[in-house]
Amino acid sequence: MMKVGIVGGGQLARLLVLAGYNLGLQFQILDPAIDACAGQLAYLIKGNYEDISRLKQLAEWADVVTFDFENVPATAARILEEQVAVYPQAQTLYIAQDRFCEKTLFLELGIPTTLFATVDSLDELRRAVIKLDLPAVLKTRRLGYDGKGQRVLRILDDVESAWQELGGVPLILEELVPFEREVSVLAVRGIDGETKFYPLVENYHRDGILRLSRVPCRDQMLEFQGYNYTRCVLDHLNYIGLLAVEFFVKKGCLIANEIAPRVHNSGHWTIDGAETSQFENHLRAILGLPLGSTSLLGPCIMLNCIGAMPELARVLAVQDTHYHFYGKTRRFGRKVGHLTLRVNDSDKLRACLNVLLPLVGLTIDEFLEWSY
Ligand SMILES: Nc1ncnc2c1ncn2[C@@H]1O[C@H](COP(=O)(O)OP(=O)(O)OP(=O)(O)O)[C@@H](O)[C@H]1O
Ligand SMILES: [Mg+2]
Repeated sequence: MMKVGIVGGGQLARLLVLAGYNLGLQFQILDPAIDACAGQLAYLIKGNYEDISRLKQLAEWADVVTFDFENVPATAARILEEQVAVYPQAQTLYIAQDRFCEKTLFLELGIPTTLFATVDSLDELRRAVIKLDLPAVLKTRRLGYDGKGQRVLRILDDVESAWQELGGVPLILEELVPFEREVSVLAVRGIDGETKFYPLVENYHRDGILRLSRVPCRDQMLEFQGYNYTRCVLDHLNYIGLLAVEFFVKKGCLIANEIAPRVHNSGHWTIDGAETSQFENHLRAILGLPLGSTSLLGPCIMLNCIGAMPELARVLAVQDTHYHFYGKTRRFGRKVGHLTLRVNDSDKLRACLNVLLPLVGLTIDEFLEWSY
């Protein structure tokens, strides 16, 4: 039996484990939290990501090690790499951990990205504001997720308060892109370089947190552009596994926001809506197995459950809806699960959304101008 070690035991690890059991794989998880939700399903090594003896324990047991999030210290990934195959590679993690490195990579590869400037002092922030103009977004270069560590600057008065709030760690200022919509490309690349793409996903965020994803996006030009850019990143990094690239769409063109070197929240619909899920394909890729088809089974909408799960019976009363709970306790702003709706008929889709959206704290008004 093939053994997979996962660093990080959140919902992404949990969903990898669920997919991997069907393939007959075994798992061990390294996480500092004893109640990490993937630990309900697989053996949990409780330890910090800097704990060399725990990292070695995982590496000794596993045939391959992967990650549930990109903020594992790059040194930890290097320690693992000395002992075992690690995908994605430490060098990729290093780039994805730092918004400056990420954006520099986009520029090197000729991929349009947001205008940006690094900021390490209040003076530098003032100069960056003059260079980029307002509105702009100040972000920590490292360790951000779900919109945390970000502050939008709209007027000059915001400059000092944003600095007070975020200053002291390396920062980056970005132009605030007046986007029409947000999309992401999910791609999987095998050890032999074979690459497959999922249909382009459209994403809706509120307060920096992904709330809803839908496929297909029905814009072939955008999809083509997104695939090309993503292929450049994959080939440049000699990437192995699943990679997501997030984009803004402005005036019908893509502007790269960030990469995620792992399975991604905007790909959760693939469990119920694609021939092979992103989780299974990530495992296939890192184990050197043939990749599975990324074809769409039908139009899907994925809704994140933030803070608490809606009542099971009410969700299941909506036909064609799939309920995914991550085994987490409720907490404000926490991703505790998701729902996937897969229906072909657009009238039926609207009727289902009328019921489901309020259950996850969204309203139909937010999606009125959608065409189906
Ligand atoms: N420069 C920008 N212009 C416009 N909107 C932005 C910009 N940066 C971020 N946002 C908004 O905030 C969301 C979250 O930002 P971003 O993806 O950079 O942060 P994150 O915390 O790393 O998120 P994730 O949960 O995807 O890891 C974006 O999807 C977008 O809606
Ligand atoms: Mg993001």
